[in-house]
Amino acid sequence: MRRRSAVRLAVFAAGIALAAAAQASQAQTCEATLATDDTIRFIPAHIDVPASCTEFTVKLTHTGRLPKAAMAHNWVLIRKADLVQVARDGAFAGPDSDYVMPGDKRVIAYTSITGRGESTSVTFPVKALAAGVEYLFFCSFTGHSPVMQGTLTLKP
Ligand code: CO
Repeated sequence: MRRRSAVRLAVFAAGIALAAAAQASQAQTCEATLATDDTIRFIPAHIDVPASCTEFTVKLTHTGRLPKAAMAHNWVLIRKADLVQVARDGAFAGPDSDYVMPGDKRVIAYTSITGRGESTSVTFPVKALAAGVEYLFFCSFTGHSPVMQGTLTLKP
């Protein structure tokens, strides 16, 4: 009798540990950290967003040394087909608007502009994404949009 209850307790404890681990890994996958520096790239250049997440957070870090006016970055999420026009409108909007046209409905989410030593983040609802759509994120800082890009996928 005593032995059986000890076994039950062990099984119960293992169940709790598994549930806690599952919760922890789910929390981790509802955010991504992208590193930037004095080069024109995101590391990594791909993000998977699990459809099980309610919200998703993207953190952007900048570890470069160049002045902000010369080498700054942001993170702008769009549908791939909208890149050229969103980038053009963002360039006109300029630094006061983080190089994103105010109220641009094509922009799903975006961060502020970061300079050396800075970091920023944005959280957006995952329901803003649809399955089967090609999403692109890019940096809309002057001259970066043709190269500084990555892809984002909603994972069922
Ligand atoms: Co950039």
